[in-house]
Amino acid sequence: MSVVFADLADFTALSERLDAEDVARVQDTYFSLASEVVAAHGGQVEKFIGDAVMATFGTERSADDDAERAVRAGLRIVDAVDRLDRRLRLADGTVRVRVGVDTGEVVVTRRGSTWRVTGDAANTAARLQAVAEPGTVVLGDETAFAVAHAYVVSPARVLHLKGKSAPVQSWAVTAERAEPRRGLRLHGLAAPFLGRDEQLARLAAFLDADDARAVLVVAPPGAGKTRLVDELAARLTPDRACWTVRLNLDLGRGYEAVASLLAQAWPGAPSSGGGPLDPDGTSSAPADADAWETRVAAALERGGHDAAAARRVAGLCADVVAGRTPEAVPADLYPAWTAALDAAAPRAVWVVEDVHLAAPDLHAFLRHAVTADGDRHLVLTSRPPVDPALASDAAVVPLEPLSVADSRRLVDELLGTGVVPGEYADGVAVASGGNPLFVEELVRSWIQSGVLVRRPTGAWAFTSAGHPAEVPTTVHAIYQGQLDALPRAARSVVERGSVPGTTFPLDALPSLGVDDAGEPLADLTRGGLLVGPHTDAVSTRAYTYRHALLRDTAYGSLGRRRRAELHARFARWLEGLEGPVATELVGTHLAHAYDSLPTTAAGLEDGTASGDLAAEAATWLDRAATTHLVASPQRSAALLDRALAL
Ligand SMILES: Nc1ncnc2c1ncn2[C@@H]1O[C@H](COP(=O)(O)OP(=O)(O)OP(=O)(O)O)[C@@H](O)[C@H]1O
Ligand SMILES: [Mg+2]
Repeated sequence: MSVVFADLADFTALSERLDAEDVARVQDTYFSLASEVVAAHGGQVEKFIGDAVMATFGTERSADDDAERAVRAGLRIVDAVDRLDRRLRLADGTVRVRVGVDTGEVVVTRRGSTWRVTGDAANTAARLQAVAEPGTVVLGDETAFAVAHAYVVSPARVLHLKGKSAPVQSWAVTAERAEPRRGLRLHGLAAPFLGRDEQLARLAAFLDADDARAVLVVAPPGAGKTRLVDELAARLTPDRACWTVRLNLDLGRGYEAVASLLAQAWPGAPSSGGGPLDPDGTSSAPADADAWETRVAAALERGGHDAAAARRVAGLCADVVAGRTPEAVPADLYPAWTAALDAAAPRAVWVVEDVHLAAPDLHAFLRHAVTADGDRHLVLTSRPPVDPALASDAAVVPLEPLSVADSRRLVDELLGTGVVPGEYADGVAVASGGNPLFVEELVRSWIQSGVLVRRPTGAWAFTSAGHPAEVPTTVHAIYQGQLDALPRAARSVVERGSVPGTTFPLDALPSLGVDDAGEPLADLTRGGLLVGPHTDAVSTRAYTYRHALLRDTAYGSLGRRRRAELHARFARWLEGLEGPVATELVGTHLAHAYDSLPTTAAGLEDGTASGDLAAEAATWLDRAATTHLVASPQRSAALLDRALAL
């Protein structure tokens, strides 16, 4: 939990200069704006002490972004107070505020309408506030590390706090990062991009060329495909449009990826409401949808389409963006979508990640985009094996493992040079096989198990306390270790939640046999194993595994019988939902249930015989195939194949 302490600077002196009425007005305005900011960031004002406001983040329910929200609120309070002078017609710089933020354990006691917040974090926040320059936000150690992915901080002062033997470093927020860093963000660890100069140069040259349309970066999980394309995108000149879609099991199934590209190319797109493109659940009104379609049509007309054709193309785009099944065959759809994307920016870079997850029709669309005339550039990534069809139209860029020297450097960059003793650093470098994800995950598991601890100065130390007997040899083994270390309830959530896929809806957990997921989920998100809640295709409260391999490991630890039961139960839960997405998922999960059943099993626990299960799955798949017949014939065929195979 994080505590924010915001106090008006030199207000006593100021009070002597202003008359009592003005003083009261400044205070009232300050208190109300601070309360507003705190509430807007999900915090709670705990009390007013003199001219100070004390607020907490994460009292009701702790989330992994408590610290980030607290810091953001602190900065907004500073901004708002800076504008107060003008609002109250005082000379510039009259009213200033200092803010301190600390993170740690506190105890909140409430008795009726009285309450008390006690604990180190509350005291420290007040002390930090006292050393802050007016108009700045100063953070304690833990807060600084928790927000390192989002804010740039610099050392402010060393504090000697009562009751603490070691001095405490304080940090001043100097800037907000334009793009938050990912990876080990929960621990504030990040490494520079290393060892990929050659590939980066190759991709940059490709984007400058006029005769090449597509590249396909191929490498196994965790090798650094996403990082590479992110770094590439960050180096583009600002005038070069770049749209990125990362496929996952949901976003690869249909044309949602196309919808995402269109929505990025043409902002303000109509959305399906709660669909994958509508993470905030803010579906736009029909009037906005019309305006969007008109805008797209107008651009197409400017590009040489006649009015009727432009209108039709825009309509087909609106359909896919809104999640409706378009009434047109691929031969009409693909050129239409491509034309609308080209009309937004002819030399745009389309980044489509993880094309190995693309279902047949999306795959067909991508091939169309790669081969059709135009100046667009596609950067595709995929896990092996290389797709022969795409490879024939795209230049293949393999990502080799990092060298042993670079892998070692990665360890040093993450933790500080020399923190991990030589023998272990070498061990990690070799065992990782040059896979940066492996290195990061191993570091994470050492933090989790206490092998690596952070000193009060912020530096990391390798302790012998939880000495790793040996370095695991695969990411899989690292994940298995992380799962084994979980408390039972959390482990059960991770295992059962793996049945729906890399993302599971919170509301489906009871049907998967998890009754009280609140606390385990809070643990799991705090520990960074799961991310959420967020909106996905079937739910507004979904959780996603940090990495697909983590999900696979959890899934792999379920026995076949258990898998069969859980797939069937998840299918039953999905039956309660509506729409084509659900239909297909019901069929798919019933089919998984059938496939998972051991040969010796007669059927499911609820008495469904295995033959009936197969028949039921086939019926649902068949029904789903019908809805896709026109717009996604290949997908439809694949579903029918699956049904027939049962
Ligand atoms: N060259 C690099 N230098 C430093 N860190 C890297 C490098 N490449 C990747 N990483 C880090 O390793 C982790 C895994 O990389 P990334 O997510 O890009 O892998 P990926 O190939 O996209 O995996 P997946 O197939 O699972 O999507 C990330 O946290 C990333 O920041
Ligand atoms: Mg990736």
